[in-house]
Amino acid sequence: MKVAVLKETNPNETRVGLVPDGVKFLKKKEIDVVVEKDAGLKAGFLDAEYEAQGATIAPDASSAASGADIILKVQPTSVEEVGILAKDQIVVSSLQPTMNLEIVKALRDAGVTTMAMELMPRITRAQSMDILSSQATVSGYKAVLLGSNAIGKFLPMLTTAAGTVRPAKTLTLGAGVAGLQALATFRRLGAVMEAFDVRPAVKEQCESLGAKFLELDVGDMEDEGGYAKELSEDQHEQELQLIADSVKEVDVVVTTAQIPGREAPTLITKEMVESMKPGSAIVDLAAETGGNCELTQAGETVVHNEVQILGPVNLPATMPYHASMMFSKNLVTFVMELVNKEDGSLNLDFENEVIDGVCVTHQNDIRHDATREALG
Ligand code: NAI
Repeated sequence: MKVAVLKETNPNETRVGLVPDGVKFLKKKEIDVVVEKDAGLKAGFLDAEYEAQGATIAPDASSAASGADIILKVQPTSVEEVGILAKDQIVVSSLQPTMNLEIVKALRDAGVTTMAMELMPRITRAQSMDILSSQATVSGYKAVLLGSNAIGKFLPMLTTAAGTVRPAKTLTLGAGVAGLQALATFRRLGAVMEAFDVRPAVKEQCESLGAKFLELDVGDMEDEGGYAKELSEDQHEQELQLIADSVKEVDVVVTTAQIPGREAPTLITKEMVESMKPGSAIVDLAAETGGNCELTQAGETVVHNEVQILGPVNLPATMPYHASMMFSKNLVTFVMELVNKEDGSLNLDFENEVIDGVCVTHQNDIRHDATREALG
């Protein structure tokens, strides 16, 4: 078995799909690893570190991919990259297939087997393969740093000879993986915290991190998959009122609310921004799916009435060292699902719900329903 690691071609991507520790793990399982030259450099991993763990360095993408059974990447394969892939090779990366239909068609036509890791089923067994969770952990942490940096205040309470500083007040909207990590980070920095989510199940988790949970009586808004359901218009109005009362008082807001397959819900209106204290900041982690704040612009910082609204995109790529370590761990765990435990051969078992859940193209066919429908 041979695994290849390609250097990311997207100029904004700094992460790498496999770190040297991952090479060590795969080598122990008698899997060979080829790494394209400088694949880990932007993330802080040198070719020499990969070699020290037993990897071979290839001078370019096509020689790295040649003869590999499995290819690891962070970003979706580009249409140009598909040209260097061979029939039946397996690409494991993120893909967002319904948003990248041209790429999916190219992969299908080339007979490449594609695993879209963001489609990983949210079951306990698959937690260690879940790139959405691992990368949301990075985003939640970084959002707090960005928000704290944007305000002209300390976060913790300080008692000094030059006077006493009151702690900053924060609000975290959406308490999934990113939101809970944001709370844990705000807590380490000593801020006073409020949190809100439509899933009452997370109340206890927020409270255990030291946050006050804002309560709204809308019943249980959690679906069978553990995700949020969309609120009715009336429920949404109640939610907006609750948030409007809180944002007036806070210094930093981190928003993370998402509903799978839909635009992010609007939780902070322009009017609410206008009610906020000058100098306060909103960090909108839902910027890429439309934003939780009406004024958010993805990839930009908007200043409205002296309130900064940050809409960062691809935050994990701003912390590529640890983001890659976590991503790599997810991919390596998944690679082991593809390997026959007895003899180390490739085992593409579609009875395995993890493999079945993430496979988008296989043998010139599209296996993912939503993508097939989107392609008509
Ligand atoms: P997400 O990124 O889809 O959403 C983030 C948060 O926004 C969620 O907590 C959601 O309830 C909340 N939200 C949605 N609409 C909202 C609204 N109108 N107002 C306020 N909050 C709103 O979710 P994420 O973080 O990817 O995961 C959500 C849940 O999925 C986890 O808490 C967990 O239960 C489950 N999960 C399970 C995994 C596993 O078992 N392998 C792995 C990761 C998550």
